[in-house]
Amino acid sequence: MMIHVFPDAEAMSEAAADIFVDKARRSAQLRGRFAVLFAGGETPRRTYELLALPPRRDAIPWGKVHVFWGDERCVPSSDRRNNSRMARQALLDHVPVPPGQLHPIECHLAPRECAMAYEATLRSFFSGVAPRFDLVFLGLGADGHTASLFPGTPVTGEWRRWTAEVAVEGSEFERVTLTAPLINKAETVVFLVTGGNKAQVVREVIEGNADPQSLPARLIGPEDGDLVWLLDSKAARLLRKETAPG
Ligand code: 6PG
Repeated sequence: MMIHVFPDAEAMSEAAADIFVDKARRSAQLRGRFAVLFAGGETPRRTYELLALPPRRDAIPWGKVHVFWGDERCVPSSDRRNNSRMARQALLDHVPVPPGQLHPIECHLAPRECAMAYEATLRSFFSGVAPRFDLVFLGLGADGHTASLFPGTPVTGEWRRWTAEVAVEGSEFERVTLTAPLINKAETVVFLVTGGNKAQVVREVIEGNADPQSLPARLIGPEDGDLVWLLDSKAARLLRKETAPG
């Protein structure tokens, strides 16, 4: 596991954008395509914006980029809480990525059917090859959720399906998420976390030993890949010096 701590959210976003550029170029060169999984929530917004701006925008082989989402909130695609809408507004509407290479999680049907349809999309994309994303961005909720793997929900025990529907108590909408076993096949998984309200959960996930079903971010550990944490100093505030030097 690699942990990098940055002075502020802007520096963290720049580092995340640089990882994207580097991985996109390498994967395109090695495999002819770059499969990336986007995170929802607010934290990655600035990273997406930076990728839409020169010089990074011009260094990315957009024709080889395939974008998937780690989770979606089942709200209309015009709703501001929609994760793919955020990524379109911040980045994808501004760069020459072929529309057929964008794979948002569509929520037109019942959540279970949407999850199954997205699994079919993924299985067709990875047909004949290992289901291995080149890069996965993830956020972290203050309750320890990541993607839509929420504490105590059945999906935290899922090991067979690649996608699942998730109902969170008290939430107005259901969600569709990729499961930990699929995420863990990725080559590189990067958590993007900023802000003092995440400091406690960052410590519990990285240094604690809570059961992963109650702290689902602890389900994430690539089988044969890298796990990277990009934190701003506020989110890293409670980590021990040995865990996060500098
Ligand atoms: C979602 C997410 C979720 C998110 C975290 C952090 O759709 O809600 O994908 O896992 O990444 O809740 O969200 P913030 O970045 O907004 O704090």
